[in-house]
Amino acid sequence: MNTGFSLIASCYDGFNCAGYRKYLAFFKAVLEKYSDIRVKEVLDLGCGTGELTKLLMDEGYDVAAVDGSEEMLSVAAAKCGDGVLFTCQDMRDFELYGTVQATVCSFDCLNYLLKAEDLRRCFSLVNNYTEKGGLFVFDVNTPYRYKKVFADNAYVYEDEGRMLVWQNSFNEKSGLCDFYLTLFSEGKDGAYERRDTVQRQKRHALSRIRALLKECGFEVTAVYGDTDLGALAEDSEKAYFVAKSVSGRAQG
Ligand SMILES: C[S@@+](CC[C@H](N)C(=O)[O-])C[C@H]1O[C@@H](n2cnc3c(N)ncnc32)[C@H](O)[C@@H]1O
Repeated sequence: MNTGFSLIASCYDGFNCAGYRKYLAFFKAVLEKYSDIRVKEVLDLGCGTGELTKLLMDEGYDVAAVDGSEEMLSVAAAKCGDGVLFTCQDMRDFELYGTVQATVCSFDCLNYLLKAEDLRRCFSLVNNYTEKGGLFVFDVNTPYRYKKVFADNAYVYEDEGRMLVWQNSFNEKSGLCDFYLTLFSEGKDGAYERRDTVQRQKRHALSRIRALLKECGFEVTAVYGDTDLGALAEDSEKAYFVAKSVSGRAQG
């Protein structure tokens, strides 16, 4: 499927300054604090290039990882080898071989699901594969971030032989945010090739996410504003959800 990531898969890690170690620490802290069950098997949903996947694997978890982009998955697979089962599937329609005790979905993957119905399908599947008492941990971009940070701003990232230009266009009324991405890459002859792609995200109201989680068998245990377990504030750019499966599978 085309998730809008084919073009940037090879440069995603180079331009990404996300704090995966902090995310791992957050994940472990909330498991410790809220999980009713011991966690061994973890689903990394929307695993991308596998930065967090690899940390989870190195931490000793048995990880299954799902993403809709073949290109992102091939970068991830090169990092993790046979240690992780990667499958190319849609977050709205995936299958696992068995159940997990926790699922993580990092760095605004769920904002790529554009309709409430898409979130519902995804949450319902996560609950279906999560053992009762296990956790679903994810972050989403807040309405504040779309309005005040992304807005119609542009960003430029540059490294050896490559430049990525990212222009946002946010529609306040529809809540849709388009990222116009242009990648310039230097060829052997020194000439630069230009390629373009568009990604689309949706601003989901946090209250809507809460309601959908509940509908799909989760209880919202906590919502943080940061991976250091800081409180969610008016100007938090991300909301970190911790939801517990109350109607998931019996432990197997
Ligand atoms: C911003 S990246 C985050 C990747 C990774 N979780 C991380 O922390 O770096 C979003 C990922 O979601 C994937 N994605 C977007 N829509 C998807 C869908 N409907 N089904 C599966 N994967 C999807 C993209 O391919 C991309 O790898």
